[in-house]
Amino acid sequence: MKRPFRSVLNGIAFVVSVALAGGLAAQAGESALPHLVSKDGRHALIVDGAPFLILGAQSNNSSAWPATLPRVWSAIETAQVNTLEVPVYWEQFEPEQGRFDNSIVDQLLSGAREHKVRLVILWFGTWKNGSSHYLPMWMKRQPELCPRIIGKTGRRIDSPSPHSQALLEADTRAFGAFMRHLKEADPQHTVIMVQVENEPGSWDTVRDYFPAAQRLFTAPVPVELLKALGKEGRAGGDWTAVFGRDADEFFQAWSVARYIGQVAAAGKAEYPLPFYCNAALRDPLTQPAASSYESGGPTDNVLDIWKAAAPAVDVLAPDIYMNDSAHYMKVMELYSRPDNALFIPETIGSPTGTRYCYAALARGAIGWSPFGIDRMPRSAGEPVTMQGGDAAVDPIAINCRVLNPMMREIAQWSFDGRLHAAVEETDECRQTLALGRWQGVITFGSSTFGYGRSPKGNSEPVGRVLIAQLGENEFVITGYLCRVDFKIADAASGAQREFLRVEEGGYEGGVFRPARILNGDETDWGLNFGSAPEVLRVQLGTY
Ligand code: DGJ
Repeated sequence: MKRPFRSVLNGIAFVVSVALAGGLAAQAGESALPHLVSKDGRHALIVDGAPFLILGAQSNNSSAWPATLPRVWSAIETAQVNTLEVPVYWEQFEPEQGRFDNSIVDQLLSGAREHKVRLVILWFGTWKNGSSHYLPMWMKRQPELCPRIIGKTGRRIDSPSPHSQALLEADTRAFGAFMRHLKEADPQHTVIMVQVENEPGSWDTVRDYFPAAQRLFTAPVPVELLKALGKEGRAGGDWTAVFGRDADEFFQAWSVARYIGQVAAAGKAEYPLPFYCNAALRDPLTQPAASSYESGGPTDNVLDIWKAAAPAVDVLAPDIYMNDSAHYMKVMELYSRPDNALFIPETIGSPTGTRYCYAALARGAIGWSPFGIDRMPRSAGEPVTMQGGDAAVDPIAINCRVLNPMMREIAQWSFDGRLHAAVEETDECRQTLALGRWQGVITFGSSTFGYGRSPKGNSEPVGRVLIAQLGENEFVITGYLCRVDFKIADAASGAQREFLRVEEGGYEGGVFRPARILNGDETDWGLNFGSAPEVLRVQLGTY
C-alpha cells in the first residue's frame, strides 16, 4: 500500500519521539522498558519499541490466588484480550512483617507468558475503594500503625489516614520490595503498567480531622501547590482562605495524592514502569458536593492537585461505570489532557458497554478494560465473560477478535490522531463524522439491501464503528451492526461518492492483506457490518 505523505511525516515524527525516548532510556540501560510518549497532546504506551493498545480485562478482586487463577486464565482466553489486570494484595505479599512472598507475582508472570498476554498489576496497599481492608493482618492487629480517618463529628471512619507516617513507611517498603522483585523477575516486560493503590480517597467524610491533619489544614497551603495552580499570590493563606468551600476536598486530595506520590516514587526508584491511579468518579455533568462521592481521589476537579502532588504517578485514570453516552463521553474528555493519557482501567463489559471501547480509541485511549472478567453467572441472561463462555457471543471478545490482530496499527493511528468512531444511541439511528473532504454517514438498524427502510436502530444500542483515515481518500474501517457510507462534505460541489475499491481483509505483520474485493450488493447501498469480525480498506473517488 502506498503510504500517504502525511502518514510518512507522522511516522517520522513518531520515530523521532520514540528514538529520543528510547535513546534517553538506553543511556540509562532500560531501552526496552515500557514507557509513555506524548506528541501534539496525544499519548502512546510504548511496549517493545512501538505503540501498544491495552485491550484488557480486570479480574475480580479476590481472584489472584492459585485456587482461582485457572478460572481467570480461562476467562481471558474466551474474551481474547491482550492484557490481564490483576491485583497483588499487600496482605498476601507481606504475610509477616518484613517477609515478602513473591510466589503469587511469579505465578502471575508465568501464567501470563503461557497465555501470551501482558499484565497490569494493581497494588492493593493502603487504599482499596477508600478503605484499607487489604492491609496485612499483622498491621490490622496493631491499630496504632494504621489509624483510620477521623470524621467531622469525631467519629472514626473506615478509611486510612493519609497523615499516618507509620502507615506510609510500611506501604512504601512493601511496594518498593514488590517493584524490586518485578524488576528481577520480569526482564521481558510481561508487566507493562502498575496501578498504585485502588480508588483512593474517603467515603463518609470529605477530609481527615485527625489531629495532625487539623494542624496542616490551618497552616499555609504549600507553596509548591500554589505554584502549580497559578496561585502564588495567595502564599501564606491557609486552606480555607485560599480555596473557600473547596478547601476540605482539595486538602484531602493533596494529602492522599502526596502519600501515594511517595509510595509511587519509592517503587519507581526500584523499577520505573508507568504508574497510574484509578478514580471512583464524581458525576461529571452535575458536579455534586464532595460529600456525595469518594473525596480525595483523582476526580476530574482535582487532577491538577494530583499532578502537582504525585509526579511519580504518570496517569490518572477513570473507572467508568456510567452506561450513558453523555456521561461516558464527558469523562473521557476530562481525562484526556496533554499531561494525562486517557486510560480506562475499569468499565462495563456488557453488550452495550463494550461499544464505548471504540469511542475511547477515537479519543486516543492507550487502553480500555472491563472489570470482573472471571465473574461466575449469577442469573440467566447475564453477560458471558466467564469460564466456559462462548467467544462468539462474548461482548468483550466481539471487540477483541477484530481489534487485537491490528492492535499495533490502531495504537499508532490513535497516536497520530487518525481515528474516528461512532457508537449507537437509542434516539439517534444516523450519525455523521467529519473526515476532511468527506462526511462519514453511519446508520444503525438499516436493512441490508436498499435505502427503502429508514434505519430503526438495533434492538439494543450496541452498534459501533471505528474509522482510521489513512489519507484524504483512504480509510480502514471496522464496525459492528451498522452501515457506513460517505458523502462529499461540500454538498454544493455536486461531486458524488464513488467506491474506487473496497477490500476486505486484515493486518498481518503490519501489512494489510486483502482477501477479496467487495462490490455489487456488498457496496451498492453502503458498507454493511454485521456481527462477524470484518475489516475493510476503502479508497474513495468522485464522479
Ligand atoms: C471499583 C473498584 O475499583 C473495583 O476494585 C471493584 O470493587 C469494582 N468497583 C466493583 O464494581
